[in-house]
Amino acid sequence: MQDRPRRLRRTPALRAMTREVHLSPAQFIHPIFVHERDDEQPISTMPGVSRHSVQGAVEQAREALSLGVPSVILFGIPDHKDAVGTQAYAPEGVVQRATRAIKAQVPGVTVITDTCLCEYTDHGHCGPLCEVPGQTGGDAWTVDNDPSLDLLARTAVSQAQAGADVVAPSAMMDGMVAAIRTALDDAGFVHIPVMSYAVKYASAYYGPFREAAGSAPSVGHRATYQMDPAGGHREALREARLDVAQGADTLMVKPALAYLDVLKLLRDEFELPVVAYNVSGEYALVKAAAQLGFMDERRTVLETLTSMRRAGADAIITYHALDAARWLREAT
Ligand code: PBG
Ligand code: ZN
Repeated sequence: MQDRPRRLRRTPALRAMTREVHLSPAQFIHPIFVHERDDEQPISTMPGVSRHSVQGAVEQAREALSLGVPSVILFGIPDHKDAVGTQAYAPEGVVQRATRAIKAQVPGVTVITDTCLCEYTDHGHCGPLCEVPGQTGGDAWTVDNDPSLDLLARTAVSQAQAGADVVAPSAMMDGMVAAIRTALDDAGFVHIPVMSYAVKYASAYYGPFREAAGSAPSVGHRATYQMDPAGGHREALREARLDVAQGADTLMVKPALAYLDVLKLLRDEFELPVVAYNVSGEYALVKAAAQLGFMDERRTVLETLTSMRRAGADAIITYHALDAARWLREAT
């Protein structure tokens, strides 16, 4: 027997020397939920994750940076929600305030803002609603695409004005990236990248996030704008291509784990960096299994994040970011 792969697995040094995929805190993006209260509220469906005050968000950003995690993504939970998501584009909105505070107190951190309306609308959808003639039940309402574009563009500009380094539109509206790009350019923000949630599926894996953000739709569902999980690679390519044509600076696949084939597809087909979003449900699964003693949290998390890198992710948005950064630090 000449071919013995086990020769290169014999020692830690040989394994490390021949390893192809590398995981580093520099690739992680730390999500922060920020609300308009002074206290910290743990999120029951996401053990270890909380809603933070503006000052709490600053401390989260500081901790991320100290662990070598260079960027954070902000999600706002406003006190006031209405039909058109006014607080998403209010100059004193909670994300705008948190962005200003973080950039003032921890200037070295890169602030990415989630650009969407669903945390700000009272019905929980990603833009203002319209009726769908002839449909009943969950399909009787959907998001009105073109009026939403203007509101998303206003949101992105107000986030950039607050000091956001990157805007990340997640609403899955047609023409969203172009509308935001044009509005940013017109407002003098030609240098601000758009990290588009290009390929985003209507997924059960967002369940814990919606509890965290209070953004579960009160009527209808998101399948009329987010992608069908049973859609194939052609639809993923089409969505990505549209965003590239509209000026997206990076592409994203969300969720990550159940869609690693799509991640690999975008890696191979496009030149833009690809971001994986390791979503709330993926996090909750691991935390629950670990709490029950069914799995080893540290090994599971590092293996999962490694799989996203192997599939082609350049960066990973993950609620495990700070823990994983600590574990990677201990390992070396
Ligand atoms: C807002 C948004 C969502 C997530 C990120 N941005 C919620 C949704 O689309 O329902 C989900 C993130 C997660 O589950 O961790 N559009
Ligand atoms: Zn949304």
